[in-house]
Amino acid sequence: MEPFSQFAADGRLRHLITLEGLEPELLRELLARAEHFLRVMEQGGDHGPELAGLTVANMFSEPSTRTRASFELAALRLGADVINLDVMLSSRVKGESILDTIYTLQAMKVDFFIIRDAQPGVTQYVAEHVDPTVSVVSGGESSLTHPTQGLLDALTILQYKGGFRDLVVSIVGDIRHSRVARSAWQALSILGTGEVRLVGPAELMPEEGDFPGASRHEELDSGLDHADVVMMLRIQNERMEQARVPDADRYFDRYGLTAERLRRARPEAIVMHPGPMNRGVEIASDVADGPQSVIRRQVTNGVAVRMAVLAHLAARARERAA
Ligand code: CP
Repeated sequence: MEPFSQFAADGRLRHLITLEGLEPELLRELLARAEHFLRVMEQGGDHGPELAGLTVANMFSEPSTRTRASFELAALRLGADVINLDVMLSSRVKGESILDTIYTLQAMKVDFFIIRDAQPGVTQYVAEHVDPTVSVVSGGESSLTHPTQGLLDALTILQYKGGFRDLVVSIVGDIRHSRVARSAWQALSILGTGEVRLVGPAELMPEEGDFPGASRHEELDSGLDHADVVMMLRIQNERMEQARVPDADRYFDRYGLTAERLRRARPEAIVMHPGPMNRGVEIASDVADGPQSVIRRQVTNGVAVRMAVLAHLAARARERAA
C-alpha cells in the first residue's frame, strides 16, 4: 500500500489533515484567497458558486461552536449543500462503524467530509478509504491537528503585523494537549516566524523534541517579554489535576493574562485566543474584550479561511474531472 499523502497524484492538495509538510507558497495562496473572501464579505458582494453542485458533510463527534458553524457558513456561501451529522445522535451509537457511516453518506453523493474526532488518526483513516473524488478535512483531531485554526491564526497575525519574519509569538497554556498550539506552530514555522515561545507549567509542556525550534518558558512574565503576539490557550478543566494546578484561581494567579502582565509584551502586541474562553482562568475579561484583543477577528477569519480551503480543494477536483 502506498504511504498516505494529502496530495493527489497530480501534486494538488486533495485532503487537509495537517499543515505539516505543506509549502509556504501553498499557505500564502490559501491566506490570499481568504483575504479575497473577506473583502467580498465586507463589500456584501457575491462570493461565487465555487462549490455549486457539491455537498459538504460536517461530522463532529466532539463539541464545537466556531469550527462547525464556520465550515457550514463557508460551504453555504460558496453554493454547496450541507449536512450536519451529530455523531452522538447518528447510527454510530448503534454500533455502525465510521467507514459504514462514511460509505452511507458517500452513497448520498457527499464530496467533502469535515471531521472532528478525539481519536488520533481518524481523519487519515477516512481519507484512505473515501472515493477518489472525495476530500477529507480535519475540523480538529485529538491533540494533533486543527489545520484551519492554524491558518486562521496565521491570517490574523498577517493582518495585524504584516508578516512573520521579525515577530515574537508567545503561545501560553496547555501546549501539550493543544491541537491549536500544534497547528499554529506548524503554520508559523512554515511561514518563517522569527521566534515562537511555548509558555506554561512544565506538566503541560510537550515532550522534549516536539515543537522543534520553539523556546520554552515556565514563567509567564519572561515568556511575554517583548512579545508581538500573545496567543492564549484554553485551560482544560479535565487537565487541572494532571497539571498539578489545583484550581482555576491558582492557575489564573500564575498564568492568567491580566492587563498588568500584558504590559510585559510590546505595547502594540495583539492578544489571541482560539475559543472557547474560560474568562478568569486563562484570561481576564478586560483583556479578552480590550483594545489589544483580536479574538473576534479570529472568528471572522475562520469563515474566510474555511471558504478558501474548500474552494481550493473543489477547484482541484473540478480540474481533475475535466
Ligand atoms: N477554536 C475552536 O476550535 O473552537 P470550537 O471548539 O468552538 O470549534
